[in-house]
Amino acid sequence: MNSGEQPIAIDTEPRAIDWIDRDSSLVWHGFTQMATYRENYPVMVDMAEGRELIDVDGHKYIDAISSLWVNTLGHRVKELDDALVEQLGKVAHATMLGNGSTVVVQLAEALSRVVPVDGPHFLFASDGASAVEQALKIAFQYYVNRGERGRQRFLALGDAYHGDTVGAMSLGDSGFESAIFDPLRFATLRTPGYGDPGWLDQALLMLDAHANDICCAVVEPLVQGASGMMIARPEDVLSFREACAGAGVLFVADEVATGFGRTGAMFASEICGIQPDILCIGKGLTGGYLPMSATVVTEPVYAEFLGADLGPRTFYHGHSYGGNALCAAVALKHLELMENWKVLDNVAARTAQLSELLDQHVAGHRAVKEIRHQGLMAGIELDSPGRDHRWGRKVCGNAVKRGVLLRPLGDVVVLVLPLTITEEEVGKVISVLADSLDVLMDA
Ligand SMILES: Cc1ncc(COP(=O)(O)O)c(C=O)c1O
Repeated sequence: MNSGEQPIAIDTEPRAIDWIDRDSSLVWHGFTQMATYRENYPVMVDMAEGRELIDVDGHKYIDAISSLWVNTLGHRVKELDDALVEQLGKVAHATMLGNGSTVVVQLAEALSRVVPVDGPHFLFASDGASAVEQALKIAFQYYVNRGERGRQRFLALGDAYHGDTVGAMSLGDSGFESAIFDPLRFATLRTPGYGDPGWLDQALLMLDAHANDICCAVVEPLVQGASGMMIARPEDVLSFREACAGAGVLFVADEVATGFGRTGAMFASEICGIQPDILCIGKGLTGGYLPMSATVVTEPVYAEFLGADLGPRTFYHGHSYGGNALCAAVALKHLELMENWKVLDNVAARTAQLSELLDQHVAGHRAVKEIRHQGLMAGIELDSPGRDHRWGRKVCGNAVKRGVLLRPLGDVVVLVLPLTITEEEVGKVISVLADSLDVLMDA
């Protein structure tokens, strides 16, 4: 299959080289080995349009990872730009500690109509990891406030990823070379992840064995994204949620990655038929514009924190930028656009197309071991001879040269497509991916 595109010689473009020099002399990029940063085709983004990022030399790249899974409607959406500018004319930020902000109230009201949480209350933060940290501390203190001091343990799944701060990392499994931080992690009860067909049975056994000392179980409902798109059967997630309720253990759904339409529904919890006690949202909350996250709790959880002014039931936790007004204004408009543009209808149509094209052009490829996908999230696991061969890195490098921005998770090529992606763009992404696999095998 040929995408008909000329490879872009990124590494010979003078403007990009100049910027990359300036960049690598000062900026430390996350999850990036800076000693080899320059060799790995860094794209120096200068602007964007629709689903495409545009580099300093004017080359365009379809953003097939949605800028690390945050972008939903595309870049430079006029309505979101306008909402931001309008909010700038009012106030950019005012603290939420002890005070309120009208646009945040409006956002909470709008979110309360869509989140799968009964009687929701919202504690805003900035990143997904912060939303998870808040969830852990809320679950812990919930039982303290109820006078049940024995519940101090957390149950999490194998292959889990919940962010990079120490608490979130403790819940996460040891992917991404994070085992080096094991001495910092607090102990977590861990049972297998979705890659193990027996994960539910193991989780139920663990829950049963520790029913009186676990404060919460934390899961990424339906899709463990960062583990390479491992997918659970919705009914298994439902069974686990029900078992947690039966054991009196709070169920935390980390929908930082799966929220806001990625999996085909507004929230993956809906597909599983569950309502968590605590929900973590982030990434797509502002459509990929600004850093905002939230921990959403049910009315009964919230009620346990009510008490005397300055008293011990208070949740003594808050981030400086939590409930930022600019973020809230964009998030509010984003929710409105998701509905008015019937974005989930496009997700359904493009999901069907993606599934068909993956089957036709990628599934049987000799470089491919397995394909897993749910909605517009997909993981193409390569049949790599070993990590040192860096197949994931090479395939994504090939794709970048052909105008599709991809970033692998080890030897899994990940697609997280913007929700407004067009039929033509999906076609190009798969065509380029197939070409990139051919180039790998022909090299
Ligand atoms: C399920 C899940 N939780 C939490 C996070 C952390 O979010 P952030 O990178 O915004 O801290 C991620 C990031 O990929 C995630 O996939």
